[in-house]
Amino acid sequence: MNTFEINKIVGAGLTALLSLFVIGYIGNALVSSDDGAHAPDAGHGAPAVEAAAPEKEEPVAPLAVLLAEGDMAAGEKVFKKCAACHTAEQGGANKVGPNLWGIVGHAPASVAGFAYSDAMSGKGGTWTLESLNEFLADPKGVVPGTKMSFAGIKKPDQRADLLLYLRSLSASPVPLPEPTVEASEAPKVEAASEKPAEEEAAASEEKPADEAKGEPEPAKAEETQTAAAGDAAAGEKVFRKCKACHTVDQGGANRVGPNLYGIVGRAKASAPDYSYSPAMAGLGGTWTEAELDTYLADPKGAVPGTKMSFPGLKKEADRVNVIAYLKSVGQ
Ligand code: HEC
Ligand code: HEC
Repeated sequence: MNTFEINKIVGAGLTALLSLFVIGYIGNALVSSDDGAHAPDAGHGAPAVEAAAPEKEEPVAPLAVLLAEGDMAAGEKVFKKCAACHTAEQGGANKVGPNLWGIVGHAPASVAGFAYSDAMSGKGGTWTLESLNEFLADPKGVVPGTKMSFAGIKKPDQRADLLLYLRSLSASPVPLPEPTVEASEAPKVEAASEKPAEEEAAASEEKPADEAKGEPEPAKAEETQTAAAGDAAAGEKVFRKCKACHTVDQGGANRVGPNLYGIVGRAKASAPDYSYSPAMAGLGGTWTEAELDTYLADPKGAVPGTKMSFPGLKKEADRVNVIAYLKSVGQ
C-alpha cells in the first residue's frame, strides 16, 4: 500500500509540475480549476489538499486485517478471473500470462520460458503479499507498460481473499502478517459492513447454546462416539471446504494448513516441515475423534490462538462424516 501511495503522490507531483508549466503559458484562471481537479495532493501543503480533495478517500482496513478475515475459498473463485491467462498448479503451463505457482515470495518476471514485458522484467524486488496487493489493484498503474491486460481487482477484501489463495500456491506459504491491535480496531468501524457482520451473525445463530467456547465437553465427546459411524463418501464432499488449505494424501504437501494424512490418531501438530501456531504446537497428545470433533466445530474456540482461519463445521453430521473420511484416507 505504501509504494502505491508513494507512486500516487509522485504521480500527482509530476502532474502538478506539468500544470505549473501550463500555468506559465495559459495564466491563472485556467489553472485554478485544472489544479483542483488533477493535483489535489501535489505537495503544496496539507490545507490545500484538504480543501481541494474532490472525493474523500475511503478508509480501508490494513491488509493484515483483511488477510486475517479473508476467505481463501472465495479467493479461489476470484482466481477464475485470472485463469483465462494464468495456471496456478505446480509446473503448470504458461498461457497468455506466466504460471503463478509459488508467486508469493518470488522475484517478478522469474518464470522460465515466459516472455515478459520490459516493464515487468525491470520491476525488481520480490512479490510480497503487499506488493501483489498493489499490483492487483491496478496492474497498469503500478507497473506501467505491463502487458497484463487486466483492469485490476478494486475491492480490497476480494484482493485479500485472492492473496490468500495465491499464497497457498506453494509448498511453504509465507507467513501471514500479524494484525496489530491498532489495526484490528480499525476495520470494526470501516469494513464491518460486509463479512465480519455476516460471520458474527452466522456464528451466534448456528452455534448451539450448550457448546461452551473452548472447553471440550466430555458429554459431547461421547455423543460423537455413538454417532461415529460416519459416511466417508459424504465426508469427502465436506472436505472440499478444507481442500483450499489441506492435502490429505500420503506425503501430500503442506499448504496453508498441514497435510492431514492419518490425522485421526496422529500426534497433534506433527506434520513434517509445517510451521504451527504456538497454540497448536503446545497441545500435545494425539488427535482422537472426539477432539477433532470439538476442534472442527469451533477451531478458534477449541484452540484459542490457532491459525486455522476456518469458522468451523456447525453441523454435527458434517463433522462426523469428514472425520470418517479422514480416517478412511489414513488407513
Ligand atoms: C488477459 C490476460 C490476463 C489476466 C486476465 C490476468 N493476467 Fe496476470 N499477467 C498477464 C500477463 C500477460 C502477464 C505478464 C506481464 C508482463 O510481462 O508485463 C501477467 C503477469 C502477472 C503477474 C506477475 C508474474 C511474474 O512472474 O512476475 C502476476 C502476479 C499476475 N499476473 C497475477 C494475476 C492475477 C492474480 C490475475 C487475476 C486477478 C491476473 N493476473 C489476470 C495476463 C493476465
Ligand atoms: C483457511 C485455511 C484452512 C481451512 C479452510 C481449513 N484448515 Fe485446518 N488448518 C489450517 C491451518 C493454518 C492449521 C494449522 C493450525 C495451527 O497451527 O494453529 C490447520 C490445522 C488443522 C488440523 C490440525 C492438524 C495437525 O497436524 O495437528 C486439523 C485436524 C485440521 N486443520 C482439519 C481441517 C479440516 C477437517 C478442515 C475442513 C473442515 C479444515 N481444517 C479447514 C488451515 C485451514
